[in-house]
Amino acid sequence: MSSAGNDDRSAQDRSYEVLLENNRAWVREQLGLDPKYFDKLALGQSPKYFWVGCADSRVPANVITGTAPGDVFVHRNIANVVINTDLNCMSVLQYAVEVLKVEHVIICGHYGCGGVTAALSAQSFGLIDNWLRSIKDVYRTYKTELRAYPDQIALERRLVELNVIESVYSLGKTSILQRAWKERGFPRLHGWVYDIADGLIRDLGVNFSSAAMLDEIYRHEL
Ligand code: CO
Repeated sequence: MSSAGNDDRSAQDRSYEVLLENNRAWVREQLGLDPKYFDKLALGQSPKYFWVGCADSRVPANVITGTAPGDVFVHRNIANVVINTDLNCMSVLQYAVEVLKVEHVIICGHYGCGGVTAALSAQSFGLIDNWLRSIKDVYRTYKTELRAYPDQIALERRLVELNVIESVYSLGKTSILQRAWKERGFPRLHGWVYDIADGLIRDLGVNFSSAAMLDEIYRHEL
């Protein structure tokens, strides 16, 4: 056989190199705009925003919000789920709120989220079934509303929104945010959904910076 197949394989194996080339080009571009760009970034970070988003490759926080390095502290996981026993998520949250003192915490889900689709199905995907369980809980909580949707696509879109809203409330239930609200009245929480099909972000209208928005059983005396 010809060596074409092998050549293709080699080209594929080297595909990562373009990222390194892009990086060097980006550094040259930034230094062209501001010779002290990296010197300034190296001094430290003080982002105003903490972003909790999906790991989906089509939803890069900085790109879709027109923000730059240093602007947004980011945590991403499959289907932007917030679980209070997730040491990773809680640690990032604590650092963002107590050390960086971000002013806004944004949970941004997205329509067409594979994690939400998987959670709606009975199919098993292995370990991730356990991660997606909380989305099944969201479905169960809103089952009456969701069953009224005329088709599966509309139902999935609504479940994406409800999963964001529940994640926003999950953040609000943490002692980390409730203590920050009592001490200084911020950060403000926001629930957003990104639409991959048109590039636009919708604000779901669930925005608050007070434990008063939570059912009293979740409010801590601090
Ligand atoms: Co997703």
